[in-house]
Amino acid sequence: MSETFLIADEDAMQAMGRRLASMLRVGDVIAIEGSLGAGKTTLARGMLEGLGHEGEVPSPSFAIVQPYDAPMVSLPVAHVDLYRIDDPADVTELALDEYLMDGALFIEWPERLGDRIWPQALRLQIFVEEGGVRRLTVTTPDAWKGRWLP
Ligand SMILES: Nc1ncnc2c1ncn2[C@@H]1O[C@H](COP(=O)(O)OP(=O)(O)O)[C@@H](O)[C@H]1O
Ligand SMILES: [Mg+2]
Repeated sequence: MSETFLIADEDAMQAMGRRLASMLRVGDVIAIEGSLGAGKTTLARGMLEGLGHEGEVPSPSFAIVQPYDAPMVSLPVAHVDLYRIDDPADVTELALDEYLMDGALFIEWPERLGDRIWPQALRLQIFVEEGGVRRLTVTTPDAWKGRWLP
């Protein structure tokens, strides 16, 4: 199932992130697609805020993996940016699965995973419309049935 939202500005994108945060569980993978500057990190920032994080949320584009741990967040998260990963095989050494044992993954540029993408990932696609409004399409896997808006 998928659903589309129009997001007017940065604040609305963060609010959507906070709303998503309230639905998160251990083991969730959130795949955030969109071009450079579309708002992927902004959405991740909103989700981390929703989990109680109060400090900065830097873009993980250089670190690649930025972990957030309890007690600063109610659910541990690894915020990941795969933009600089050219070969899906290179993702193996990031050991991302380990974060799913007690937390969640937020992944920017999940396209880099090719067919290694987790089939139960929640898929968030951000498109930039004329004038800068963002269109967000949320596609829910089975793992999210009954959790996302019915
Ligand atoms: N509707 C919107 N939603 C999210 N970001 C927006 C929106 N409109 C403008 N922006 C701006 O677009 C930029 C998005 O940056 P960022 O979240 O880092 O993008 P990405 O991680 O996709 O490269 C920010 O500067 C933000 O202020
Ligand atoms: Mg980003």
